[in-house]
This record gives sequence, structure tokens and C-alpha cells, in this order.
Amino acid sequence: MSVSLSTPLQLPCGATLNNRIAKAAMSEGLADAAGHSTSRLETLYAQWARSGAGLLISGNFQVDSLHIERAANVVITDEGGDYQLKRLAAAGTSNGTQFWVQLSHTGRQVDASINPRPLAPSVVEIEAFRGVGANFSTPVAMTEHQIITAINQFSYAADSVQRAGFTGIELQAAHGYLISQFLSPRTNQRMDNWGGSLENRAKFLFEIIKAVRAKVGPKFPIGIKLNASDFIKGGFSHAGCIQLVKMLNDTSVDLIELSGGSLEQPKVVGVSIRDEGEPINLSQLKREAYFVDFARAIRETSKIPIMVTGGFRNVGEMTDALSRGDLDVIGLARPFAADPEIPLRILSGEISRVPSPETTMDVRHTHPWNGIQIERMSTGLLPDLRIAGETAVTSFLQSEAEKLEALAAHRLVARA
Ligand SMILES: Cc1cc2nc3c(=O)[nH]c(=O)nc-3n(C[C@H](O)[C@H](O)[C@H](O)COP(=O)(O)O)c2cc1C
Repeated sequence: MSVSLSTPLQLPCGATLNNRIAKAAMSEGLADAAGHSTSRLETLYAQWARSGAGLLISGNFQVDSLHIERAANVVITDEGGDYQLKRLAAAGTSNGTQFWVQLSHTGRQVDASINPRPLAPSVVEIEAFRGVGANFSTPVAMTEHQIITAINQFSYAADSVQRAGFTGIELQAAHGYLISQFLSPRTNQRMDNWGGSLENRAKFLFEIIKAVRAKVGPKFPIGIKLNASDFIKGGFSHAGCIQLVKMLNDTSVDLIELSGGSLEQPKVVGVSIRDEGEPINLSQLKREAYFVDFARAIRETSKIPIMVTGGFRNVGEMTDALSRGDLDVIGLARPFAADPEIPLRILSGEISRVPSPETTMDVRHTHPWNGIQIERMSTGLLPDLRIAGETAVTSFLQSEAEKLEALAAHRLVARA
């Protein structure tokens, strides 16, 4: 059977995606200071629920209130917020859409203003730009007890997500966050059985999968976002990824989303600030569909459906990748911030390219620009593509500073 963008996909657990277009995770920064969901998040996801996507994946919701990526992340712990989570699930599934929560723990990849004592597998400092508001503390190596706690935090959060009415979860095991830190030999230098061989480095991920599955039962989708490579010398390599996928074949994972890079090497949005880690070839120099050539080799190994996210803009290229069998699901992130009806337009044949404002923008402006469009949609407005990159940066920084202040005040009160 030839597969097209509108072909439904049945996952191993039995759940079905209505088509092959997924909204990939984008951190929203729209929770309240306690990390609970808000009516603004509901407005945003009600809009995306009408987009025609086969799958919506939330931004990174955190499993520990200290280990968050930015102020106003949603946090899922035993400190309240269940009612708000339920309302958000109802908004995002309102059109019968699959709506999964991405669960994450930042580990060492967090600004010091958010967490001055981040946990990580080992004491390896982040090699990212510092200054002008960016600062990273030296991480603290996790004890065995802290590792077990983190595993339990993931399974607790997955259970809460299921009880709230979401239709699945995705584990954030990519982009340099905690699970990805365990997978990488560069950041995981442990000498115990959580470090060393790939089997040991992957143990944290496999224990989380086991704990989550035990809570949610056999019919609830579990996805994983994984780096096709860290694209960094000594990091989690493409060969390592293929090996890991072989091991994942024996688990009950339902979908593997492939991406790449981290804060140290932002390949995730197609930017390379250091050319190391994988041999340079033409595919890596591609300006669009960054990971599709890596995906092909991984899909050959995988018994689990593969979603690929990063740089898909040309509808013909999406269709070709699907019909060649390079992948099973196309993930789009930034196009959803530029137009909340993008899947409907693709599936109806109205457009042959999705918006790509990032191609005409200073690379430092794209993250704030997308953030500002997400903020607009959360108030019921449509994106405004005329907003200039500089303007977006100014208002994004102001908005982030306000959220950080609210978080600091909340933490003070919580501590008192
Ligand atoms: C504003 C913004 C926020 C993002 N937040 C997340 C996130 O919370 N979790 C995640 O896995 N990826 C996140 N990403 C990465 C996207 O999911 C995606 O991998 C990346 O943007 C490349 O896809 P695209 O070219 O279709 O935008 C974010 C990207 C953007 C632009």
C-alpha cells in the first residue's frame, strides 16, 4: 500500500494517528508561577486541535519543579495542578486529536537563574555561550537515590497525564536534556552501572520506559524523542543511535521521533556551531529536512514507527520521504507557530510549501519570534508574520523576565 500524508497510522499499542502530520514539541512558557496549566494554554491547544494534525505533542512539561527549562514551564508533580491539566487535555483533544505530553527533566542544561544546582549524570560543564543573560552552573553528579527518584518522577507524571485525559506521552530523550545526558559518553562519565557501555548509559531511559509502562498499561502510547546524533565529538553518535534503536525494538515504545543536537550544537533547528561528531556529507549541509538521511538508516533497523522532525518545509519532500519509506510521520514545529492550520492546508493540497520565516531571519531571532507567535495564539490571536525579529526579541526578553520574577516570588513563598 502506498503511504501518503493522509494515511492513518496504527501504533503498536493499538492507538491510531489519523494522518502522518504531527505538531512537534514547542516550549510554550505559558504556565503560572506554580507550573500549573492556564486558560492561555487551553486557548492555544484548542486552536491547534482544529489544525487537522494527526498528533499534537505539547512543549516540554517538567517532572521536577526545580529542574525546569524556563520559568512558566508546566510542571507535573504531586504539588497540585491536576484540575488545570484536565482542562488542558480536554482543549487539546477537543477535535478527537491525539494530544501527547512531552515529559522532560533538564539535568545540567538549564540557566543558573532557574537552577543554580542542576543535577546530571556526571560533573561535566556545559560548553555553551555564557554572558548577556546566559549562565550555567557546574552540575552535581546524581546519586543512585537521585536517579531512582527521577525515574519515579517520570512515571508519576505519566500517570497524571493519563488520568488527566491526554492520549499519550513522549519522553524527551533528545537535545541535551537529562535522558540525553545519560545516553552521551561525553556527559555520562559514570563508573557505576549507569555509565560506561551503551547498555549502561541507556539504563536510565529503559528503567523510565519500564516504570511508565507499568503505570499507564499496554494501550497508552509512549513515544521517545531521540537524537539521530548529538553531532558533537565524543557524544551520542549516529552509530550509537542505531544500536539503541535495536535495543528499543524489544520494548513497548510506540513511536520514535528523531531530531539532533543540543544547546551546545543547535542542529535541532539546522544550525551547526561546530562541525564535529559525524563525518560531514551533503545530507548534513542540507538546509531543509535536516535528519531525513539519518532517519533512513535508523528506520531500516527499527520495528517501531519513526517520526522525523526538523526543517520539513516542502510538501513534495514530505510526501517523497513517506512513500520512499524513510519515515512514518512528519514532525513540524515552527510552521505551527506561523500558521495554526498548516496540516489542513497541506492535506487539502492548498499549499506546496509551509511558511519558513526563519529562512529570512537572523538565527538569534527565530526562537523569540516563534515564542511571541505562540503567546499571540494563546490570547486567541492569529500569528502575525510581519513582526520583525528585533521587535520579537525585545518583547520576548521582557516577557521572560516577568515570568522569572513571578517564579522567584513563588519559590520564596513556597519556601517560607
Ligand atoms: C520555540 C521553540 C520551542 C521548542 N521547544 C521544544 C521542546 O519543548 N521540546 C522539544 O523536544 N523540542 C522543542 N523544540 C524543537 C522542535 O520540536 C523541533 O525539533 C525543531 O524546531 C525543528 O523542527 P522545525 O524545523 O519543524 O521547526 C522547540 C523549537 C522551537 C522553535
